Amino acid sequence: MTIGTLTTPNPYFLAPLAGYTDAPFRRIAHEWGSGCAVTEMVSAEGLARDGKNTLHLLRRYEGEDNLIIQIFAPDRDPVGRCLDTLLSYRPSMIDLNCGCPVNKVVRTGAGSALMKDPGRIHSIVSFLCANAPCPVSVKFRLGWDSASENYLEVADACIDAGASMLTLHARTRGQMYSGKADWDKIRILKDHVRGQNAAVFASGDIFCGADALEVMARTGCDGVMFARGAIGNPFIFRQTELAAKGIDWSADVQVRISTLIRHLDYMIEDSGEAKAVREMRKHAMGYLKGLEGASKAKAAINSAMTRDDYLRALEAVESAASAVR
Ligand SMILES: Cc1cc2nc3c(=O)[nH]c(=O)nc-3n(C[C@H](O)[C@H](O)[C@H](O)COP(=O)(O)O)c2cc1C
Repeated sequence: MTIGTLTTPNPYFLAPLAGYTDAPFRRIAHEWGSGCAVTEMVSAEGLARDGKNTLHLLRRYEGEDNLIIQIFAPDRDPVGRCLDTLLSYRPSMIDLNCGCPVNKVVRTGAGSALMKDPGRIHSIVSFLCANAPCPVSVKFRLGWDSASENYLEVADACIDAGASMLTLHARTRGQMYSGKADWDKIRILKDHVRGQNAAVFASGDIFCGADALEVMARTGCDGVMFARGAIGNPFIFRQTELAAKGIDWSADVQVRISTLIRHLDYMIEDSGEAKAVREMRKHAMGYLKGLEGASKAKAAINSAMTRDDYLRALEAVESAASAVR
């Protein structure tokens, strides 16, 4: 699919996930067929100050050609100050976060607080469109709360400012991550902007290939972003591509475990063994979800200090799986 200057092999993207979508996870997702991936949200203010931690979030794996960088900011000012640094990371697209519900972010006027002021969204997006050589997108929610749903007004502001892609997480800020994402609103958004030059991506409760195909069929959206459904489950991209061809597939135990180990190895390459074994735990819980004999392995991984500790913990899951076969 093509969105401005960004061309991707498919419309199945890895969503931004703070604390997750670092270079090793994006690399694993790419290997399993993600069309493109988004960094976790990066503070424009942090970028402007060249914060070491912020810059670390923008590292790529070797050969990562396409990368959508997501920023958050309360207004245009820090975006202006961070622009040179941001562009030095060669984003294939810049995404503006208008969905983060977390108090720490909202208190500064960024994330989903921007939903209260479409004018500020317009000002940030038009600045980016005028000054960045790549397309600009916006990820937003239905509104601040159910009494103030204004996603169509926000979409109009984004398109008027020049955005090439809109991703709607079909919940309000008030819902945080609870309740069901309202896919009907994604259809309403797609119908609203039809004929204008902006792709619409769906986000919310897309947990398997069948969900992705269903939301695309029901709403006419151009693509989907997998979020919680991809944690410990990068196979979801392959599953979706195969489901689109009518093939029902899911990863077996061996595939899940070998991918977990490869993911851990990429993390070790990226940040060293001590940090990687800690950071990998939250991913490992996803890889092991639902597997026979996994509870012991999960406990062992939660106290693992080395790569070898992981291997020992995983052996038990593999033998439980062979015993079942
Ligand atoms: C742990 C976590 C971190 C997230 N971080 C971000 C983020 O940095 N930027 C963003 O736009 N959305 C973020 N999201 C929202 C997801 O991208 C997605 O829109 C949301 O989880 C709904 O999709 P899902 O129901 O399929 O998980 C985050 C969600 C979770 C659960």
